[in-house]
Amino acid sequence: MTEHSHRQHEEAEPGETWPGKTWPGKAAHGCAPLGEAPHAEAPHAEAPHAEAPHAEAPHAEAPHAEAPQGEAPQGEALRALAAAELLSARERTTLLTSVVDDADLIRQHSPLMSPLVWDLAHVANQEELWLLREVGGRDPMHPEIDPLYDAFEHPRAERPTLPLLTPLEARRYGHEVRGRVLDLIERVKLPAGPPNGFGAEFNGAGAGFAFGMIAQHEVQHDETMLATHQLRSGPAVLSAPPPPPAPADAASLPAEVHVPGGPFTMGTSAEPWALDNERPAHEVNVPGFWLDTTPVTNAAYAAFIADGGYDDPRLWTADGWAHRQRAGLTAPLFWSWEGTWTRLSFGVRETVVPDEPVLHVCWYEADAYARWAGRRLPTEAEWEKAARLDPASGRSRRYPWGDGEWTPALANLGQRHLRPAAAGSYPAGAAPCGARQLIGDVWEWTSSDFLPYPGFTAWPYKEYSQVFFGPEYKVLRGGAFGVSPVACRGTFRNWDYPIRRQIFAGFRTARSDDERPDSGGSSPRET
Ligand SMILES: [Fe+2]
Repeated sequence: MTEHSHRQHEEAEPGETWPGKTWPGKAAHGCAPLGEAPHAEAPHAEAPHAEAPHAEAPHAEAPHAEAPQGEAPQGEALRALAAAELLSARERTTLLTSVVDDADLIRQHSPLMSPLVWDLAHVANQEELWLLREVGGRDPMHPEIDPLYDAFEHPRAERPTLPLLTPLEARRYGHEVRGRVLDLIERVKLPAGPPNGFGAEFNGAGAGFAFGMIAQHEVQHDETMLATHQLRSGPAVLSAPPPPPAPADAASLPAEVHVPGGPFTMGTSAEPWALDNERPAHEVNVPGFWLDTTPVTNAAYAAFIADGGYDDPRLWTADGWAHRQRAGLTAPLFWSWEGTWTRLSFGVRETVVPDEPVLHVCWYEADAYARWAGRRLPTEAEWEKAARLDPASGRSRRYPWGDGEWTPALANLGQRHLRPAAAGSYPAGAAPCGARQLIGDVWEWTSSDFLPYPGFTAWPYKEYSQVFFGPEYKVLRGGAFGVSPVACRGTFRNWDYPIRRQIFAGFRTARSDDERPDSGGSSPRET
């Protein structure tokens, strides 16, 4: 997910000194699945909550309502796909760690983030642990460094004090591991059938999944490293072309779209590289609701600020208001008032673009905005139903646009652009309900806590997801411009603390069928 030269965004947010989770890894070997690991003090032991994550009662598993995955790659095609995804991830990792000098790689740019050189070696270490050791049965190359790169063992704030590999050593290590992994891909016996090896041994039927998991792990760290770039001081070092301009119909889109009530299949049992928390497929009944056609824009959010949104405790939950007071929140992270709103974007201060989705707001801010607008955040089930249900077939598809793989015309993914596209962009990627940009651009906060689906099975280790289940974390959906397509799909679940703002998160709002559209504030999109 992104660099800058000012520091005002480091408006210390109390509590944001946690190491923070962010992407996959391995507990036994050290890192949590999303982003990076949970931090050591994650107290949620292993008690996944028994109750379903949604208010709506889940029903028995309904795998038949999922789009079939019959065309998933197998054999040689799977071998080629695994190699291509690993190489693509490394290309981005190399770019993100080669545009700054060694001193910059070693520096900790924010207590929320690891030094970039830690990510660099951690990615290689996880690849060695899972692919060379678990899949390939090889002996450890440098067992003495394993503890240094165990994300559960050392919170981010502590990592700069560790005797980490130097940038040169980290690169060499990554190179060596990758060379052996590419050799392994050629030789390893991959499952003959569909490559959904979920739950199987990594040195057997699970080998194909292991390659997919590690490719996703590296791109998730690429997103984390992009966030470190957004937080770092110094001149701009990253650049990218702007996203395509908004299509002609963007200004005339309805403010909201309707999703009829009824059951749909949530989660997946068929997606080959889906992680444990996305599984299994199960039926959920979601009452009818209205959802914003696009993510909330900077202009709409600025209206919330101008209307005193940050000064009215009635708009905030008690915890949200306490945090807003303690942290002194007055605008999105990286925003500054200079007669007009400006923001720092990867080292460049620029005027806030009115029709871009708002970015770098925490869950509490999103929740307060929604209340101001007379609306609410969508539940996770509502988001997924809007994104995946095809009313014509009754099936849940892989993406809003269907079951076909992502292309650049469908969504803003893959760090091709270092900012979200204007609201209303990517009409080709719209969902059947008419909502746009559900995938890509900005992560979208939902109202839901991060909880297991009925029938959840922790795999390959509890620290991948299970230890994070509970009310402390809110679910984000959809993926941002910094997310790679390999780690983005209609079922993908991200989660974070409700105070987090350095992630590339925005939101959209919703209302139930029985909630009046004009019961509250004055969102500009509704006028
Ligand atoms: Fe990790």
